[in-house]
Amino acid sequence: MRDHLLAAVAAAPGLDALDAVRVDALGKQGRVTQLLKTLGGMTPDQRQAEGPRIHALREAVTAAIGARKAALETAALDARLASETLDMTLPAEVPMAGTIHPVSQVMDELAEIFADLGFAVATGPEIETDWHNFTALNIPETHPARAMHDTFYLAGSEDGDERTTPRVLRTHTSPVQIRTMLDQKPPIRIIAPGRTYRSDSDATHTPMFHQVEGLVIDKGITLGHLKWTLETFLKAFFERDDIVLRLRPSYFPFTEPSAEIDVGYTVIKGKRVIGGSGDAADGGWMEVLGSGMVHPKVIEACGLDPAEWQGFAFGCGIDRLAMLKYGMDDLRAFFDGDIRWLKHYGFSS
Ligand code: PHE
Repeated sequence: MRDHLLAAVAAAPGLDALDAVRVDALGKQGRVTQLLKTLGGMTPDQRQAEGPRIHALREAVTAAIGARKAALETAALDARLASETLDMTLPAEVPMAGTIHPVSQVMDELAEIFADLGFAVATGPEIETDWHNFTALNIPETHPARAMHDTFYLAGSEDGDERTTPRVLRTHTSPVQIRTMLDQKPPIRIIAPGRTYRSDSDATHTPMFHQVEGLVIDKGITLGHLKWTLETFLKAFFERDDIVLRLRPSYFPFTEPSAEIDVGYTVIKGKRVIGGSGDAADGGWMEVLGSGMVHPKVIEACGLDPAEWQGFAFGCGIDRLAMLKYGMDDLRAFFDGDIRWLKHYGFSS
């Protein structure tokens, strides 16, 4: 029996098989256990002869099982270590890094250019009140911009206070003009870049887009200051000296007079490149900005005396500026979040 049991221990291929051998030999019904039980029925002489043999058998089997168990465990550990080995010569996986979005890039450029001209950056909420977004900007109740199809209105209780309700997603950055004039004493020189919303969506319009607002309030401000500021800004932004502006009479409720600003472009190999007079044979004009002298009613709505303070304001689409500067042609790609598109335009983080 001894040889048979020791052979079974040695042959056990794994820990489970070894345990089966242990139960077969040393368990309650095990063969060695049964042998030990026979000692009770023996005469003292028999017991003296058989006792040490049976006990020695049990110890030998127990020791063999212990040794085999240790060997199997070591082998299992070795196998695991071998399978989990790290190959230090493999190339490392480089985590994918993002890039600066062209809209952020242009916002940074705007802030930098206007900082040189003495403008601070102002901000306002994207959830705006109807009053700041429209009323204070001299946009009457009947103005088409208020129609539901252009403006996202927010559901909410009307508390009857026109300065807090109803609320809208701001349709332009112009309410930041109002907040700044209510907040600060003139002279004021700010730009306000940020997100704006209109319920509009096609190849050239997205429901969320970006604008930058400009506002100057001081004494003796004229249309000449407006034109010089925008010319200086556009030359710096497009990095060209041959920028030509055209001021076209226009209408905004919050400026009087109002002017649409066109910038001249030249067609080079079928592409419109900003620069040169739009009246040249290979040129044309592109609308880039809305602007004007701040309407006296707006200055008044902010608690200032229009006889003492004048100013100009302008507003401009940032997405469009980015497209013009970096030669992108589909506005929707701006909001797809496709990192390959970002990398293509080479903005580094
Ligand atoms: N808020 C106007 C728009 O969204 C732009 C503008 C701003 C015009 C400031 C004049 C002055 O179209």
